[in-house]
Amino acid sequence: MKLKIAVLPGDGIGPEITKQAVKVLKAVAERFDHDFQFEEAVVGAAAIDATGDPLPADTLELCAGADAVLFGAIGHPKYDNDPDAKVRPEQGLLNLRKGLGLFANIRPVKAYPKLIDHSPLRPERITGADMVIYRELTGGIYFGKKSTSEDGRSATDVCTYSVDEIERLSHLAFKAAQKRRKKVTLVDKANVLETSRLWRKTVANLSAEYPDVALDFLFVDNAAMQMILDPTQFDVILTENMFGDILSDEASVIGGSIGLLASASVGEKSAMFEPIHGSYPQATGKGIANPVASILSAAMLLDHFGLTREAAVVRDAVEESLHLDVCTQDLNKNNYYSTEKVGDFLEGYIIEAGNMRLN
Ligand code: IPM
Ligand code: MN
Repeated sequence: MKLKIAVLPGDGIGPEITKQAVKVLKAVAERFDHDFQFEEAVVGAAAIDATGDPLPADTLELCAGADAVLFGAIGHPKYDNDPDAKVRPEQGLLNLRKGLGLFANIRPVKAYPKLIDHSPLRPERITGADMVIYRELTGGIYFGKKSTSEDGRSATDVCTYSVDEIERLSHLAFKAAQKRRKKVTLVDKANVLETSRLWRKTVANLSAEYPDVALDFLFVDNAAMQMILDPTQFDVILTENMFGDILSDEASVIGGSIGLLASASVGEKSAMFEPIHGSYPQATGKGIANPVASILSAAMLLDHFGLTREAAVVRDAVEESLHLDVCTQDLNKNNYYSTEKVGDFLEGYIIEAGNMRLN
């Protein structure tokens, strides 16, 4: 298969981890005879430094013309504590999501048996946890009208949702549930928010089209607690933009490291693949960042194009690296491997595992 992949390394550890994901995709291309072409562009703080714009027009154009986008991370400390900053790196990511119409953000979370002791949660609670969060990504409070009063003493963020926005994501969540354990949990705050009541009504109506899928509802505060108390109850979590952002960071605790969580953001035409973690500025350039979230995002990219055998080989490689403790510092304190070395191990395994499978 021929694929044109736009690579947006972004800020902080973004370039280091993305480099390993590209290495892994090149290994897959070599082993399975695909033609993957990569083209890089700037985004985020790196783009502000280079052009003044966190999402330069050239970058958006490259992404819109590509089959897929591989995204690193975004954010820089110099903007975090500056509420008056006129332009922020995060705006690059938000504009990209909006500009490419990436309305569905898919974030799988599971407890790896080998890493069960890395989670601060008790092993018996998280054993068997395996869920996927379907987060709405181009609406809600993130994209509503924002304003600050003239005297600077009040500020407003508007949250709006339409039935169409809710339905298009919900269909994907229900279809995913049909291929999994056939359960969707809608997370909202319908006891308080009008938008949440619209979500509940819309999702309840739509669920009639999926009689084989069980639907239940949780308020977001309760969902946050249930995630820690009994994460195995979840199969597909369906939720709006900001709740999904918060719950997915919380869910990463189950896997033992946020450095493992991958995501796919998909729309009608485009698809982007990115780790859920941020730019981890303290680790930048030290070779200690975990590249696995970016590499598992690359596996989701392969799945997206129907390359399921290839994606399975990448996931096998990751499982094997966890078994052999070929891990970065977050997972192996005493005898850890560098970002680059983990990438090298996976590259080697993919080429060999491909051999075993083909022969
Ligand atoms: C994420 C991130 C982004 C978000 C930030 C960087 C804008 O936290 O992808 O989860 O809030 O969506
Ligand atoms: Mn987040």
